[in-house]
Formats: sequence, structure tokens, C-alpha cells
Amino acid sequence: MNTMRKTILLSIILSMGILGACDQKGNETKDMNQTTMTEEMDDDMMEGHMDHDDEVSLNDSTGKNELKIPDELKRDEGSEELVYTVKAQKGETEFFDGTKTNTLGYNGTFLGPMIRFDKGETVKIRTVNELDEETTFHWHGLEVAGDVDGGPHSALEPGEEKMIEFKVGQEASTLWFHPHPNGKTAEQVYNGLAGLIYINDERSKSLGLPNEYGQNDIPLIFQDRTFDDQKQLNYNAAMNEDGTIGETLLINGTLNPKLTVKKEKVRLRLVNGSNARNYTFKLNSNDSFVQVATDGGFLNKPVTLDEVTLTPSERAEIVVDFSQLDASDDLALVNEDGSILLPFDVSDEGEEMNKIPEEMNQFTITEEEMNLPVTKKVELYGMMDKVTINGKKFDPERIDFTQEQGVTEVWEVYNKPDEMGGMIHPFHIHGTQFKILTRNGKTPPENEQGWKDSISVEPDETVKVAVQFQHKGVYMFHCHILEHEDNGMMGQVKVE
Ligand code: C2O
Ligand code: CU
Ligand code: CU
Repeated sequence: MNTMRKTILLSIILSMGILGACDQKGNETKDMNQTTMTEEMDDDMMEGHMDHDDEVSLNDSTGKNELKIPDELKRDEGSEELVYTVKAQKGETEFFDGTKTNTLGYNGTFLGPMIRFDKGETVKIRTVNELDEETTFHWHGLEVAGDVDGGPHSALEPGEEKMIEFKVGQEASTLWFHPHPNGKTAEQVYNGLAGLIYINDERSKSLGLPNEYGQNDIPLIFQDRTFDDQKQLNYNAAMNEDGTIGETLLINGTLNPKLTVKKEKVRLRLVNGSNARNYTFKLNSNDSFVQVATDGGFLNKPVTLDEVTLTPSERAEIVVDFSQLDASDDLALVNEDGSILLPFDVSDEGEEMNKIPEEMNQFTITEEEMNLPVTKKVELYGMMDKVTINGKKFDPERIDFTQEQGVTEVWEVYNKPDEMGGMIHPFHIHGTQFKILTRNGKTPPENEQGWKDSISVEPDETVKVAVQFQHKGVYMFHCHILEHEDNGMMGQVKVE
């Protein structure tokens, strides 16, 4: 169909060209313009159509490099309080032996540290912008007041710093942080700005799940990129309005990663940190694994799965039991299409100390929540730079919704298909962990019956979520395809 359309367009262009050339009165400039316009339209259409699905598959990881584990951030020395410093900075990273790539990072050259919070503690973070452009520090999934959430209204100019403070009130989970400057989020994330947050609580410490960081508790931040001939990340060249995808996978900033594990249960905290790519993770042996946590907390019970799909910004914690798997084969975590994401090197040692408890959480959806009327409607629509929410593009001066602090409302999110059928939009709300009530009127799958801050919404799908904000302020809600967000697929809710 693509080819046919292109052929038709080409014939139009050609005939116009011929007409132009034959035009003795010489209106050539005008014809030239028309030709150029048509060609541009053609290119746009081709790209737009192709990118409706993730057609660029990922190169297999060769397993040449051991996976990097982000450092755990230490609190500032000499301070009595819990003060951390997080600096956005420029740097050079050696992904390819002997070649330096210009990148951005937090307290380092690419990505950032893991920051561990305990539920109940009050934390201060000194945020510093050492970039040449404005940035913000957004804590994705964290329930904090709007003025410390780091949305586009909280930009720090180059050289500026700001101390923020919040109390960690939510349960154990894997969250992350990234920049959110208006219209520039995608590029800054692409170039390397993203970091991890682990929240611990009494439950996470006592459940008995693997929790030795970097040993059997492994964060995996998945990001696909395109490196140019100079092995640089050239965002403008790679950029696609419908979401920038690449053929090269980095996990925790490691090119061609492999992970060495013991013959034991290993907890993998999967984070989709990509601008636009969706992943469906599975084991190449087709063995199952269990999912133990969603974006914002533990599931009530472990859910056995053969595969798990994550759209941009979603997380899932899974446990793979390497003591039960046949490690003689080339065991690997693969994507749906079979591309090798992360080969495992399973060592012979390992004494099993961890367990996966049958009861992990007490997440509930009450009868009352189930019966609440829909009071907010969100319609996701469009593609490329024509994306909208409720027919509108983001306006920092406009408040789209208001909601009362501590009061649950049901938001109905609908993904309206376009002429091309539409595409998945990952929908995210700041400052809250919410509950999925229904997907197209039905109970969501078991592994989505837990706290969420981002959800996949398929074309023509309606998802009802119960949303409550613990704090006040102005919060963004948006599509987490970062180019869609930058193109205005974002609104604001004011919580009072
Ligand atoms: Cu991951 Cu608006 O955020
Ligand atoms: Cu967010
Ligand atoms: Cu979108």
C-alpha cells in the first residue's frame, strides 16, 4: 500500500514537472514550490505510516560487556539531614571501545545514580543544572507536591540550583527521574538524562525477595538509540515526530550487555526508559517467570507469566529463578520478535536463600471505587505532530482539570483511532499512583492489579482508572512517547 501510494504521488510529481517544463509562460517557481511541497508530504506520510508500528527491530546483544549497575547515591557528606545532590551535566561516554560519545548524565556522563528512599523519611535534594540549556528534575511516580514534582513550570536555567524537600509517603516501588523542560524532554532523555529511585519500606525488607542491589536485585533500564557514523547520538537526525526509535539497545547505558548471575532467584526491575519503543520481554527458553511488582508497588500475589509488555515509562519487577532453568543453553532475555536483549551467564554457584512469598501486598479496589461515575474524560488522538488530548495541545497557561486533594475520581482514558488505525499511547499522570478499574469494561490482567502511574492504551481502547492525589499543586498528564509529549500531547490537572 505504501509503495502504491508513493508511486501515485511520484506520477503526480513527475507530470507536474513535465507540465512545468512545457509551460512557455514560465511559471516555474510556483511549480517548483508545488513539487517540493508534494515531496515533503510524501516523505512525511511514508515515515508516519511506517512508524505506527515499531518496525525497526533491535540488533542482538553480542554479550560482550558486563552490564553496568548504576551507583547508589550517597547523601552529602557532613550534612546532618538527608541531603542529596543531583546534578545534570554534560559528558563523554565510551560506549564503543576507543570512541567518545557526547552525552548527558546525572552526577556522571550517562544516566544517573540510583537513589534509595525509605518510606516515611523526609528528603532534601539539591538539584543543579550544569547544562547549557534549561532543564527540570521530575520524579516520575513519586507522590509529592506539585511545586517539587519538576514539571515544565519548574525549569532551572543553566548554572542555577534549587533545594527541594519532600516526605516519602508511598510504599516500596521502583520509580525513576528524568528532565521535563517544555518541548525539550525527548532530546534530553535521549542524550542520557534518566536515573532510578528505589523506595523501601518494612514490607520490602521483610518479604524475603532478592534484594542485594547489583547482585540479585538488578535494575534494567532499556533504551534504544541510533548512533551515527561518528558514533554520536545525533538527536535531530534520528528524531521522529511519532517517537524516536533506534536499532541499538543500551541497558543501563551498556552496549551489548550480558548479565552474570548465580543459580538462584534474581529480581529484575525492568524499566522502559525509551523515548517511544514498546518491549515485550520473555526468555528465549520460553520458561516462565513471575512478576512481583507494578509501577508503584508489589502485586498482592506473584503472577506467573511467559512474557510482559512495557510501554515507555512503565516498570515491572520480575523474578527469574535461575536454579530451575537449564543454563547449558544460551539463556537470554529477548524481545517479542526474538532479538536478544540481555544474554545471561549463569554461574555454577548459588545457594537458594530467597523466596517468593504468596502474599505480598493488600492492594484493593473497593466496591465504592468501582461504582464511582466517570468525572474526567481524556481523549488521546493523532500522530506525528498532530497529537492532541481532548482536541487540544499543551498550553502551560491553561488548567485542563481540577481535582480535590485526597478525593478519588474516575478518569476515563480513550484512545481514538485515526485514519491509519492509530497507535498505542502510553498515558501517564504525575504525582499519583492510580488503580486500573477496567480495560474496555473488563477487569485488567492480573499483573495490572496493582499501583500504576503509566498505562498502555491501545487504539480504540477505553481504560478507566481511579485517581487520587495525596498532595496539592499542578500536575501534568500526558502521552509518554516523549516526542508526543513535546508535541503537546499533555494537559494539566490542578489539585486543590
Ligand atoms: Cu516520566 Cu511527565 O513524565
Ligand atoms: Cu511523571
Ligand atoms: Cu502518544
